[in-house]
Amino acid sequence: TETVSEELTAAIRTIVDYPKPGILFRDITTLLGNARAFRRAVDALVQPWAGSKVDQVAGIEARGFILGGAVAHQLSSGFVPIRKKGKLPHDTVRIAYSLEYGIDEMEMHKDAIRPGDKVILVDDLIATGGTAEAATKLLQQMGAEVVSACFIVDLPDLGGRARLEALGVPVRTLVDFP
Ligand code: PRP
Ligand code: HPA
Repeated sequence: TETVSEELTAAIRTIVDYPKPGILFRDITTLLGNARAFRRAVDALVQPWAGSKVDQVAGIEARGFILGGAVAHQLSSGFVPIRKKGKLPHDTVRIAYSLEYGIDEMEMHKDAIRPGDKVILVDDLIATGGTAEAATKLLQQMGAEVVSACFIVDLPDLGGRARLEALGVPVRTLVDFP
């Protein structure tokens, strides 16, 4: 009998040399297009939180929006978008973070979180953890209690999990690609 992890692993497509030579890109669009795998992924992500109160689900642009919206619906929570700079219309808080080459900035509306809100952070994949670490810092700055960070895919060799755990955030992932 196939485990959820095996089923999800089989539903993810690997693209060789994208976006650069030497990279194996884990493409979750095939999982999203597979109705059963998409449902199983969302169900598995929310499972520890079923029946408990989560105020907000924060999703990281862009693939974290797709999953985070589904997770928020399932938990009857609100949804907070964390976006690349310049996309949100009202007053924002902003944080810089490093990418493989150079830096970028992400932001969130200042009034999206109330102090003490229990928040789950969602994205499709954690690699170095730089993106999720910056998002966690933004949420914590606004007084959120980030009760978990959830991802379908972990690339464990890149060490992202430890960066979130260092901020006191438990990490939940469903599939490893070593
Ligand atoms: C990918 C992925 C995560 C991030 C993980 O997004 O969806 O958000 O990279 O990498 P890290 O753990 O090393 O920070 P990407 O930067 O490709 O942005 P996109 O979803 O807008 O295409
Ligand atoms: N897939 C999707 N997003 C990513 C990857 C990947 O393999 N590596 C870093 N961000």
